[in-house]
Amino acid sequence: MLLINCSNREKNCFKILNDIKNDDDKLISLSNKKMNFCLGCDACKNNLDNYCVLDDYITNNVYKGVLTDNKIVIASPMYMSNINGILKNLIDRMNPFYHHSELFNNKKVYLILTGQTSKEENEEEINNVINYFKGLSEWLFQEFEFLEYFEGYDNLNNDIDYEKKIETIKEKLK
Ligand SMILES: Cc1cc2nc3c(=O)[nH]c(=O)nc-3n(C[C@H](O)[C@H](O)[C@H](O)COP(=O)(O)O)c2cc1C
Repeated sequence: MLLINCSNREKNCFKILNDIKNDDDKLISLSNKKMNFCLGCDACKNNLDNYCVLDDYITNNVYKGVLTDNKIVIASPMYMSNINGILKNLIDRMNPFYHHSELFNNKKVYLILTGQTSKEENEEEINNVINYFKGLSEWLFQEFEFLEYFEGYDNLNNDIDYEKKIETIKEKLK
């Protein structure tokens, strides 16, 4: 299982992923990695030997991880009522898999969100994100499941169901 912390820091999303991680899983953070934006050159349409002309952590590490792991768990904080920029950039960089969807066969993408307001207050924003991912899963990810929303700003103490949510996620990912 590949766990991707898309937060701009190693705090809430990182802690959640670390708490659901098994020993043989790989947990990576993108905030401290070299990550360029998609150039829109579409070179990946024809040439899949190198996937992408960009030379960065996504090309050299994430694509390989995505290809080897069948379960990919993504965690993002809500930023301005949506996913944050790192996750959007990661999705844009999935263009090679859009052009060669067979590479994504048998893979499932899971999503976890965090935010400073309660799940109830954020309901509309969370549903917008889920619908966006459901749309993506029709032609990009193929299989998608939303796992959970956690409430917290600088820590997850506000989320009184934290331990229960972690256990439920672990069960689902077995
Ligand atoms: C620029 C910025 C925008 C944010 N926008 C929202 C928001 O729209 N809704 C929300 O609930 N939380 C918002 N937050 C709070 C974060 O989502 C929250 O603190 C989250 O748990 C951080 O996760 P992390 O510790 O993994 O980075 C925002 C935080 C920042 C820095």
